[in-house]
Amino acid sequence: MNAFLDVKRYLEELARESNAGVPVQYPPEEKMGDLALPVGFKLAKILKKSPQEAAAEFSKKIEHPLIERVGVVGGYVNVFLRRAEIAKDVLKRAVSEDYGKEKPTGERVVIDYSSINVAKPMHVGHLRSTIIGGSLRRIYRFRGVEAIGINYLGDIGTQFGKLIVAYKKWVDEDALEREPIKELLRIYVKFHEEAEKNPDLEREAREAYKRLEEGDEEYVQLWKRFRELTIKYAEKIYRLLGVEFDEISGESFYVEKARELAETLLKMGIAERDPETGAILVDFGNLGKDIILKSDGTTLYLSRDLAALLDRVERYNPKKLVYVVGSEQSDHFRKLFWLARKLGVDRELVHVSFGLINLPEGKMSTRKGRVIFLEDVLNKAIALAGEEMRKRGTYNEEDARKIGVGALNYAILKVEPEKNITFQWSRVLSFEGDTGPYLQYSAVRARKILEKAGDWEFKAADTVNDDEWRLIKLIARFPETLSDVMAKDRPHILARYAYDLARTFHSFYDRNPVLQSDEPTRSFRIGIVKAFYNVLSRSLNLLLIDVPERM
Ligand code: ARG
Repeated sequence: MNAFLDVKRYLEELARESNAGVPVQYPPEEKMGDLALPVGFKLAKILKKSPQEAAAEFSKKIEHPLIERVGVVGGYVNVFLRRAEIAKDVLKRAVSEDYGKEKPTGERVVIDYSSINVAKPMHVGHLRSTIIGGSLRRIYRFRGVEAIGINYLGDIGTQFGKLIVAYKKWVDEDALEREPIKELLRIYVKFHEEAEKNPDLEREAREAYKRLEEGDEEYVQLWKRFRELTIKYAEKIYRLLGVEFDEISGESFYVEKARELAETLLKMGIAERDPETGAILVDFGNLGKDIILKSDGTTLYLSRDLAALLDRVERYNPKKLVYVVGSEQSDHFRKLFWLARKLGVDRELVHVSFGLINLPEGKMSTRKGRVIFLEDVLNKAIALAGEEMRKRGTYNEEDARKIGVGALNYAILKVEPEKNITFQWSRVLSFEGDTGPYLQYSAVRARKILEKAGDWEFKAADTVNDDEWRLIKLIARFPETLSDVMAKDRPHILARYAYDLARTFHSFYDRNPVLQSDEPTRSFRIGIVKAFYNVLSRSLNLLLIDVPERM
């Protein structure tokens, strides 16, 4: 742990020992200290003194070689650190590429994200899940936790009956190979149009589905093909976004197990049989009753998900299972976790629930064929990035891709998951403000300084000014920021941090010459720039954003 975080921990422990356990705060201004402890309010009651007096008494206990002085204001103890010593320790660590990285801890987490539906276009909700999950996977792995990314495909359901019928009647094989999802969507929409005129089609679809379930060779092959085409199509998008998975599974894997599980739950008395219909259902208390097995033996989304959860626990032995899925499925996950607990699952279970993304293009409806294709959204972002670069005379294809994708990923990751996102393309792609391109630009700028600096060796400084100090303190907080993201499964915390860091860098750089300074200031400041570059480019990488060559 670096010296800055060491002192922080020391203060937190001291407060805890004094029965004034409070989190250490970061004051907004240098004159209020580097760390602040609001201990006075709690201690006032215990010591029967005013908060000011209680804080003053506490402050006498503080003794640490890296603390220069303490001040008491109201119930707060403000702590001022020895800048030069801390700066030296923090920068020495942060100039190394691996700063913030942890060795393997032997722990595992399983993260379920993207989890798209076969033969349907990915929608923007899937995009948000894909990006949040992909970023979380990288963050955990960087911190030594083996994150297993699972894409749990929606590969089951009556729509496959319709698709098989539609395929046999109307498919264009060439189109299917070229643009599988568009063609599958076309025939799916056509099915619904035709079915309005000819109700027989619905019956045909039901029969086809039944045959598929019974294992009809030809139909199973078709279903497999739809599944593979969907994966192939999705992989193109994942590659572009920089998202990886460790396992592609699907609901179809768990039909048998889900059926057995429903029977087990019945025997255990957790589920009951509906006397009227014969279905197996569970009473979830204030979440109401829900079916887990239909009377004809058909499994449901919930029972399959439960079987999948148990399977993940068994195969990976994770300390935590995370599901990155839209907020419309909150009740589903409450029920799922409720059932898992009843079955004795003692792992941490987390639903990272997120809101909607509204695109200027409007709402979607798969059945009516009113669809926004994700690849079109991505291509638009890339095209807009390219336009901006042309204006600047820096256009090249590779960097336009990095900027377009980076802008999109950042626009999604910076928002608290609970909040809805409304895209405004001009804002997402702006090179200024709280945007991906602004952060990329900051990294490019720092890299240019380092290139010009040539060979240098890190040198400590005797004094550290406010601009330097602010940036160094933020750099010191990088490891803690990552731990916070993992504890809460909220990557937007890292996005906020990266933006803060970049802004603080610009204030530093605007007011403090780096390459033009005399030694040892010059080398010290180059060290700050290098540490900043490492932390920012690492943060961006963890947020699925690449740093361009030129922009
Ligand atoms: N396929 C589902 C959908 O598109 C999401 C699945 C999420 N994962 C899970 N284990 N339930 O809505």
